[in-house]
Amino acid sequence: MMLASCFLAVLAVLAGAVEDPDIGYSLLFETAPEEFSRQCVDVSPQSKPFPTWASGDFIIPSIGVVSMGDRTMVGLLDPFGKMQRFEMKGSTVCAAYRIMATGFYNASKALNTVAPSLLFYETDPPRDCPMYNPMCNMMPHVNTFKVGSKMLSITDAPSMLEIRTLQVLKKHQFDADRMEETLPYAGSAHPVNHPVTGDWIDFVGNANLLTGGAQVNFFHLSGDNPTFRHSLGNLTFDHPPYMHSFGVTEHYLVLPRMPVELNILDILYRPLSAAFKDLKMSAPGIDNAFVLLPLDGSGKVIRAYLPLNDMLYYVHTVNAYENATDIVIDLTTSSHNPFASHALTLPSNKDKAMRDTFSPEVVKRFVIPLQEGQPVVASVISDPRTSTDFTKINPRLAGKKHCFFWAVENKHDGESYASIAIVKYDLCYGSPAKHWFRQSWYPSEATMIPSPEPSAAEDDGLLVFTALDGAADQSYLVTVDAQTFVVKSQITANSKQQQNNNNTKTTTQQQQQHTNKTTTTTTTTTRTTKRA
Ligand SMILES: *[C@@H]1O[C@H](CO)[C@@H](O)[C@H](O)[C@H]1NC(C)=O
Ligand SMILES: *[C@@H]1O[C@H](CO)[C@@H](O)[C@H](O)[C@H]1NC(C)=O
Ligand SMILES: *[C@@H]1O[C@H](CO)[C@@H](O)[C@H](O)[C@H]1NC(C)=O
Ligand SMILES: *[C@@H]1O[C@H](CO)[C@@H](O)[C@H](O)[C@H]1NC(C)=O
Ligand SMILES: *[C@@H]1O[C@H](CO)[C@@H](O)[C@H](O)[C@H]1NC(C)=O
Repeated sequence: MMLASCFLAVLAVLAGAVEDPDIGYSLLFETAPEEFSRQCVDVSPQSKPFPTWASGDFIIPSIGVVSMGDRTMVGLLDPFGKMQRFEMKGSTVCAAYRIMATGFYNASKALNTVAPSLLFYETDPPRDCPMYNPMCNMMPHVNTFKVGSKMLSITDAPSMLEIRTLQVLKKHQFDADRMEETLPYAGSAHPVNHPVTGDWIDFVGNANLLTGGAQVNFFHLSGDNPTFRHSLGNLTFDHPPYMHSFGVTEHYLVLPRMPVELNILDILYRPLSAAFKDLKMSAPGIDNAFVLLPLDGSGKVIRAYLPLNDMLYYVHTVNAYENATDIVIDLTTSSHNPFASHALTLPSNKDKAMRDTFSPEVVKRFVIPLQEGQPVVASVISDPRTSTDFTKINPRLAGKKHCFFWAVENKHDGESYASIAIVKYDLCYGSPAKHWFRQSWYPSEATMIPSPEPSAAEDDGLLVFTALDGAADQSYLVTVDAQTFVVKSQITANSKQQQNNNNTKTTTQQQQQHTNKTTTTTTTTTRTTKRA
């Protein structure tokens, strides 16, 4: 009797272990090698044509290839990347999928192993890496943006990739300027447009090995000369800061400084995940603060320190804006250093028990007085039972007061990290949050395409995202009314045209399954842009 019940208990545990309630979620973290150049699908008659103002390309990166030869990536940000491009026009969506042919990918293919490069985590099994030139490579690109006629794709690394029609061209070269000194170590993954001039604003951090500190040089890039970075000033820090994103208002750069330093020697000699060191603080100071850098060149920097019980761990900036007395910035925050988290490994994302313990991200509003010495006021503006990131606002309101934001909401059900919704929050009029949610469907980050009508409301527009139906292993491009959340269209790249793909006959079962799917991923740094 005793034995029998033990046996049954063991069976129950085994059954529980094999039956993953988050059906198909792990597919997001596996190799999805299919590529095709252009497959078009008609959305009619089921759906109306896209509004003319929504014509354009929706580009979303994802994990492409996870293993090469005998080695498998461990870091969530490390796999060889893939770009999906969806051209939306009239009643038609044309899709193209490309593995990004970076130098790193090419070298790895040629060597049939994961080539030497800067990785967030060492591979499994570890590579035999030479110690020389360890900074010569890049992480999977995380953002694409347009400067003049060029699309740039960047990483947190200071070099940028240029892409055109999904082909990787080359590293973006800048004219000789004074932005990069002897040891440039980081830019931001998310450059920001100035709300009035439209110029791109970003920075380069330069480490100083003699002092152990860093100088951060800020610049703007205008479309008429995308290769020259005009200085906006610089700041020096005792500990090299890491700013994944930041805000720009009409008159200020708004720089969140989290209590983490990027240890430069660690970057040189160890996987990147080891380099994000928590700073020990005994009193409020510049290591846990906001810094406001005026754009008028006056150099009148405002520093606002946060209390030690409010550590500024953050990843993404929703928006920032100013009025006569204050700066407002909304950030996705967490209670721990998000760059030293097991949430950034593939194995922990594929393990339900592990991912369900990821510390949740909450969106917080910080009101920073322009009068130095006054306290910063922080408030939570997303549902704290969920984990909310990859926020979007109406892009016309960047740098101006916004009333709505959209985001990816993990832990939609309050428990399971793979329970994922697209959520909309109203910050002005008190209406309850809206959700797009389907059991076992995994949406990507959304893009908000605003209506161009002069009388259009702030939330009038179209939300575009991809979503994996986990049970069917099938991805869709989904468009949703940004105001009402009514689904407007839902299409999948037609697999019949995949017959052009000569591999079809010889593929294994495993590969067959993947030919119908775009793997979409919501890593902490994945971004998409809409190019009108
Ligand atoms: C990688 O190889 C592809 C195909 O040979 C080529 O088109 C691409 O330019 C290469 N990438 C780099 C960065 O050299
Ligand atoms: C940094 O700023 C100082 C003034 O604050 C200026 O003298 C110096 O030239 C700047 N350096 C660079 C590289 O822009
Ligand atoms: C500026 O915005 C803050 C935050 O919303 C608000 O508390 C403050 O009263 C505003 N100041 C003015 C002059 O409107
Ligand atoms: C694919 O098959 C067609 C027709 O059999 C052939 O002409 C073409 O060269 C093949 N393409 C590749 C990349 O093998
Ligand atoms: C993939 O597409 C093929 C051809 O349309 C279809 O037979 C197959 O069932 C699809 N596989 C999945 C997993 O949806």
